[in-house]
Amino acid sequence: MKLQVNAGRIEDTSAEAILLFHFKDETLGGLSKHVDEKLKGQIGVVLKNREFIGKAGQLYLISINLEKIGIKRVILAGMGGRNEFTLDKLRGASAKGANYARNLGLKHLAILHPLEAPVAMEETAAALTEGVILGTYQYNKYHTEDKADIKTLDAISIYTDVNKVKNIQKAVEFAEIVCDATNLTRNLNNEPGNVGTPTYMAKMAEEAGKKHGFKVKVYGKSEIENMKMQSFLSVSKGSVQEPKFVVMEYNGGGKDTIVFVGKGITFDSGGISIKPSRDMEKMKWDKSGACSVIGAMSAAASLKLPVHLIGLTPFSENLPSGSASKPGDVVFASNGTSIEIQNTDAEGRLVLADALVFAQKYKPKAVIDLATLTGACVVALGDVAAGLMGNDEKLIDKVRKASEKSGEKCWPLPLWKEYDEKIKSDIADIKNIGTPGGDAGAITAAMFLKRFVNYPWVHLDIAGTAWNDYEKPYLTKGATGFGVRLLIEMLRDWKS
Ligand code: BES
Ligand code: MN
Ligand code: ZN
Repeated sequence: MKLQVNAGRIEDTSAEAILLFHFKDETLGGLSKHVDEKLKGQIGVVLKNREFIGKAGQLYLISINLEKIGIKRVILAGMGGRNEFTLDKLRGASAKGANYARNLGLKHLAILHPLEAPVAMEETAAALTEGVILGTYQYNKYHTEDKADIKTLDAISIYTDVNKVKNIQKAVEFAEIVCDATNLTRNLNNEPGNVGTPTYMAKMAEEAGKKHGFKVKVYGKSEIENMKMQSFLSVSKGSVQEPKFVVMEYNGGGKDTIVFVGKGITFDSGGISIKPSRDMEKMKWDKSGACSVIGAMSAAASLKLPVHLIGLTPFSENLPSGSASKPGDVVFASNGTSIEIQNTDAEGRLVLADALVFAQKYKPKAVIDLATLTGACVVALGDVAAGLMGNDEKLIDKVRKASEKSGEKCWPLPLWKEYDEKIKSDIADIKNIGTPGGDAGAITAAMFLKRFVNYPWVHLDIAGTAWNDYEKPYLTKGATGFGVRLLIEMLRDWKS
């Protein structure tokens, strides 16, 4: 899809439709009013008759047949009341409008920038871009039938204030890069387990590095053994797929080193502590964190952000077999900590432990890990927000601010020392689960990770937000790419 910011006369547009956002119960103003005048008041009539009032989510199509006017159709998209305006509402309205045009079979859509919204123009320009790119995402790599029926929008022209074109263009380009990276994350993450193996994922990381400009080093099994990452290796023991430890590096300058770590379980069956069959297919998305790290690295490098970034993604399958880890096994992580594996389904923390130890050598100013770590986090926060935990209030605050701006919601859970008791083991330093009943499961998982960090650290449990079981306003079913927009938002105004 090609995006272009335009300050020309909208009445001359060659687009097949104009998308126009409208606040509930308001009259037409600014660019919308100008369009209505060109259309001899046709939009005004619809508003006057209250066929369309601008409720959030509302859509209305007007077909035009006027001489000497390029405009053929107007799609009205409701943004709800001005006083309740959020950028997320605009993302939603934009996604709805773009999908409507796409489903009509249109190829070229013009969008009127809603300049009257009560926030900075750059922000609304970015939000409407996000709505279009994220909202029209389709994953049809594996469909073979009815391919000809697949509809796509090819071009978007955003019409905006003549005097602000430069700034708006910048904002749109920034959003476009971040959303393309988010869709890359979704593509990688939506790969089924038989294709998206650790080896495949490592190759995809290398490709992303080449394309976007960051270094990628892939370590195989024997190298992981040499690094004494027994905790990580204990998870892959049951699988014929070789584990891969992927190290990505982008250096855009800046004195702080920031590390992103992503859980990359390409399929989580639970291992010997096997999961119930129902919903098990969803565990192909247990690599969400790693895919988001690859996406964030790609976006940061494309945007040439002035930061030094490291991305660490341990990839492994978690399967049962004669060679798999067993409940009760004891292994040593690469920092020497002994771990009793009481449940092989608590594998995410085992692969992350060694990655978090590896991060220590960079003496990072901040480490953020993303992981579909616990069902308990889904119980606590559902599919609305990621669990936000960490050991550094300032960093937690940075992530929260970025979360509010990006619309990728995170909510804090405490890591009080009382919880540390729960992961003590009788025969090793720690065990990989808390109470058998799973009390405070999201927190005890984080307490486990905390044992392996010696730097400012934030852990995001994205088990509930990494994929959608149903369509959301601008996030389609399947992998959401959660975390890419959040991380880039945080890097964007990074100050030590
Ligand atoms: N990948 C799962 C967590 C998960 C569950 C993510 C559901 C998304 C949806 C993780 O590896 C896991 O199995 N966690 C266990 C931990 C337990 C054994 C302590 C869980 O949450 O049940
Ligand atoms: Mn598991
Ligand atoms: Zn898992």
